[in-house]
Amino acid sequence: MSKPKRYTITTALPYTNGPIHIGHLAGVYVPADIYVRYLRLTGNDVAFIGGSDEHGVPITIKAKNEGVSPQDIVDKYHAIIKQSFVDFGITYDNYSRTTAPIHHETASEFFTTLYNKGEFIEESTEQLYDAEANQFLADRFVVGTCPKCGNEESYGDQCENCGTSHNATDLINPKSALTGNVPTLKQTKHWFLPLDKHEAFLKEWILEGHKKDWKPNVYGQVKSWIDDGLRPRAVTRDLDWGIPVPAEGGEGKVLYVWFDAPIGYISSTKEWAAREGKDWEPYWKDKDTKLVHFIGKDNIVFHCIIFPSMLKAEGSYILPENVPANEFLNLEGNKLSTSKNWAVWLPEYLKDFPGQQDVLRYVLTANAPETKDNDFTWKDFQARNNNELVAIFGNFINRVVVLTNKYYEGLVPNPGAFSQEDLDALAAVKAYPDVIASSIERYRFREASQELMNLARLGNKYLADAEPWKVIKVDAERTKTIMYVALQIASALATLSEPFLPFTSEKLKGILAYTKNSWNDVSEKEVLLPAGHEIGKAELLFSKIEDTTIQAQLDKLEASKKANEAANKVVEPQKDTITFEDFTKLDIRVGTILEAEKMPKAKKLLVLKVDTGIDVRTIVSGIAESFKAEDIIGKRVTVLVNLAPRALRGVESEGMILMTESADGKLVFVNPDTADVANGLQIS
Ligand code: MF3
Ligand code: ZN
Repeated sequence: MSKPKRYTITTALPYTNGPIHIGHLAGVYVPADIYVRYLRLTGNDVAFIGGSDEHGVPITIKAKNEGVSPQDIVDKYHAIIKQSFVDFGITYDNYSRTTAPIHHETASEFFTTLYNKGEFIEESTEQLYDAEANQFLADRFVVGTCPKCGNEESYGDQCENCGTSHNATDLINPKSALTGNVPTLKQTKHWFLPLDKHEAFLKEWILEGHKKDWKPNVYGQVKSWIDDGLRPRAVTRDLDWGIPVPAEGGEGKVLYVWFDAPIGYISSTKEWAAREGKDWEPYWKDKDTKLVHFIGKDNIVFHCIIFPSMLKAEGSYILPENVPANEFLNLEGNKLSTSKNWAVWLPEYLKDFPGQQDVLRYVLTANAPETKDNDFTWKDFQARNNNELVAIFGNFINRVVVLTNKYYEGLVPNPGAFSQEDLDALAAVKAYPDVIASSIERYRFREASQELMNLARLGNKYLADAEPWKVIKVDAERTKTIMYVALQIASALATLSEPFLPFTSEKLKGILAYTKNSWNDVSEKEVLLPAGHEIGKAELLFSKIEDTTIQAQLDKLEASKKANEAANKVVEPQKDTITFEDFTKLDIRVGTILEAEKMPKAKKLLVLKVDTGIDVRTIVSGIAESFKAEDIIGKRVTVLVNLAPRALRGVESEGMILMTESADGKLVFVNPDTADVANGLQIS
């Protein structure tokens, strides 16, 4: 274990245009919180910094759609997001927001410093413009084809498919997201950060300096961008929501959201330091401070190329020592999506699973998308809860606490001579702080969480092998030793689970009346719970999750998928105009289905006998996937009777039944809904 140090740990500032979901938690906030809790438990000086990203186009678009101001939107979601972090035990030292005055000042000053140092290129160029909306089209105001990967829905500043960041004018076939218009070009002045100027430094710092210690997914992305060659990037925008550009000619312009947001880490640190009576500067300027950015993979370019170039250009700041970005989490096989409501929202989870935050933290960690995209499924959630948290961790603790109360009225018994098994178990426990620490320090939180579970497994197995509930009948002294050993394991779990399962750890410490709170006690202290120490009563740490609970979550997702499909159904454009004469050529009649049979070996086809009023004729209809033959006998239908006959699988079909589609994609009959229209009546 390394010696105590100063750390500044930041987490991507979430956009305040909606609540946060499990993807955010798994990718950024839970791993960061595990890391920070571990650092604190090992005696380090940590500033854990977060906040809301309240500028940017998505927020103005949402405000416009809802007919409210951007400030209303950010006020609403800042409060909701901040509460989610509290609810899920993300222990920020400070959670700020980019609309805070201290941030406006800090970002403004930062820009001014670079401006005065001549670090920007000031240039009037042609930018995409929507004349109808009277608006320049940058960032999410414009979509088009990504020049790098061909994704047709890339945004102006970044393609969500391949992660590339580009200029809006690089898009192929750009379209305004506001009106759908093809943009025109219009002259406007902006300030550009010449990334090309920082290329040599980035190469040396990352490509040479961090080849070994940065995650391959992060290193690989950075290398590919640098290899492609870096170009100047505009850091200002023609918008009215954001931080005003503090330069001559900057009227009516604001800083690009990705210029101001990462500076939010600095302003949030300042806010914290002022409140705590500390000096913020060592946390950002002392070269002995270790700066680590926790982010998702779509943020890599900004944290590894653009922000470091800004910090370097400013000159007085340290650079991140690592940027352990995660890949994406999917949900039940599909990409998480805020706009499609394909997500598990944290406030909703909390309503459905009150008090079970640790279960989600654990499942998201055990299945974290650390090296590749990963899938969250409710079945896996249930299995991890029932088979690991309940059956291993919870079961072990429960047995230890119940038996200690039953045999010894809650007092830790005096051990006798230790057997080899006892000594092995105690020695194995002492190794865990280092084993788990080594995984955490390499940002391998999945592995770390599994090591923690292995410790619980060790406890469970120790008890199952030693069988104190049998031994008590024949050897009271031996039983005391067994329970003493088991209690030491339980208290080790209380400490080492804290980063992963903070609420459970708290509860367990309460049950064991165990107050020590140092990671290294587990390996360094001779005993954790001395003989004679009194513990409390058993309480359930985890409870089994039933199939019905899981089904309810799956149903909820299914309903949201349907609602989304219905809302997004495209209405076909109207066909070419026809004359009345054209129409009268169609002979459409009311009819009744008399018989229906499945066409052998055809998935879709039913062979119908239909009374058309003119005759009873055979019609082959492609509706077998929506109806069972026996269910449609007697059904009133609308039939096009003068369609030229044609043979389908050798059966001559003389007409067509008119059908349409319901919201969920099933076929439905277009039928006369009164019984008193006779077969054969014409529809005109
Ligand atoms: N709001 C951005 C997102 O959700 C993240 C901003 S991170 C910061 O993707 F560095 F800019 F703060
Ligand atoms: Zn792309």
